[in-house]
Order: sequence, then structure tokens, then C-alpha cells
Amino acid sequence: MQKERKLIIAGNWKMNKTVAEAVDLVNDLKLSLAPIKEVDIVVCPPYTALSEVSKAMIQSNLRLGAQNMSEQNSGAFTGEIAAGMLKEFSVRYVILGHSERRQYQKESDELIAKKALAAHLASLKPIICVGELLAEREAGLMEQVLETQVRGSLAGLSKEQMEETILAYEPVWAIGTGRTATAAQAQEAHAFIRGLLVKMFDENVARRVRIQYGGSVKGANARELMSQPDVDGALVGGASLEARSFADIIKNSI
Ligand code: PGA
Repeated sequence: MQKERKLIIAGNWKMNKTVAEAVDLVNDLKLSLAPIKEVDIVVCPPYTALSEVSKAMIQSNLRLGAQNMSEQNSGAFTGEIAAGMLKEFSVRYVILGHSERRQYQKESDELIAKKALAAHLASLKPIICVGELLAEREAGLMEQVLETQVRGSLAGLSKEQMEETILAYEPVWAIGTGRTATAAQAQEAHAFIRGLLVKMFDENVARRVRIQYGGSVKGANARELMSQPDVDGALVGGASLEARSFADIIKNSI
């Protein structure tokens, strides 16, 4: 399937995998995904596995991402990890503002925007997550929620930085629930977000930014989702924890 933008499919392993399990998974992925050039493939292990996964990935088409980072560069911030520390392990991407962090760590759009700027200053590409709750969708507030999150989380980014930013539309009601947005629902939200980028930046920037869909993506629904004109990849949770199911998503997307 020929798309305007190169697909980017990322696995978010969340708080799963020991170092040994992580290395096994990456070795399996290397074998099954070796010939694939059409998709940017990213895996995001927990911090503790970054070092070994980074080594296991050398000379492969897999790229490394982290699941979060601090907006600060260094200092007395117990438990935090800075962008510069991620760079030591050849991390290229960092997920920011995942709905689980928005919910459990109360991360605000303002904080996410600061993290996004810090990521760019370290030449990391942020994957910034946005998405509405079920109650918000049912109340007809989807567009309003997305607009607030997109404007807030991207505040202060230059056009050049925006082009190097990936967005992930993840309706919260579809994450880990087995309930995927229909391809039409995903396309509608993605087109809305791209329209916002036109207003906030310009047509060229909006045309270049890749917008991933996330929320119960699996091999069986990947093709239909990825065939939507404004869906440029996937952010995958549960199905990224096994080589077979993650590879199926990628293979079914091209
Ligand atoms: P899921 O998670 O694929 O398990 O629904 C997606 C995500 O949280 O990024």
C-alpha cells in the first residue's frame, strides 16, 4: 500500500519484560522483520532494558524509543530520567503524554509541551499522545478535548520541530479494552487533528506530520486502519509484547 507518509509502527511495552525477556523479544523481531524497509519500526521497552535492547538492535531495522522522560536536564529530581541519559543508549524516540501518564501521574498538556521541547533539544523525536475518554466522546466533546490537548501539548514547538514530532491518536476507551475505534472513527479524528495542524502551523507541516492510531491494534484490524488516508502508523500496547503479534501488525500494514 503506497502512502503519502512513511508508516511508523511503535510497540509500547509499558511496565513489562525483564531484561532477558526484552532481549529475546527483540531477537525474535529482528528475525521476522529483517526485510522490511517500508515502515519505521520502533520498540519502547522499560528504562531498565534500554541498554541491552539497544545492543541487541545494532545493525537491524529496529529503532529504540523510551516511554517517558523528564522535562529537566539534570539535578535533584529523584526517580526521573533526562533526555541526555536516553541518548546514551541510542534512543531516537520518546513517548510523551500517554493517557496512562495523564491519568495516573496527572501529567498536564503544559508539562507535556515542556517535555516535547526538551526532547527536541536533545534530538529525540517525541511521540505525543492525545485522545478522549468515552464519556467525553459520548457527550459530543471529542473535538474540543482533542483541540485542547493538541494545542496545549504542542505549545512552543517551531515548524521544524513539529515536522519531527509524531502524534498518536489514542481514544482512551480503546486502550487495552479490545475495543478498537472503527477505521472511519480513526480517520475522522486524524483528519480533525491534521486540520488543527494546518491552523497552528501550515499546510506543509500538516502534510508531513505522521499521526499514529493507538488502541487495541492487532494483526486483524491493522490493514483497514492503516489504509485510511490520515492514519500513518500505530502505537501498539498489548500486541507488541509478542513477536508474532507485533510482526503481524507490521506485515499486514504494507
Ligand atoms: P493497547 O495499548 O494496544 O494495549 O490497546 C495501546 C497503547 O496504550 O499505546
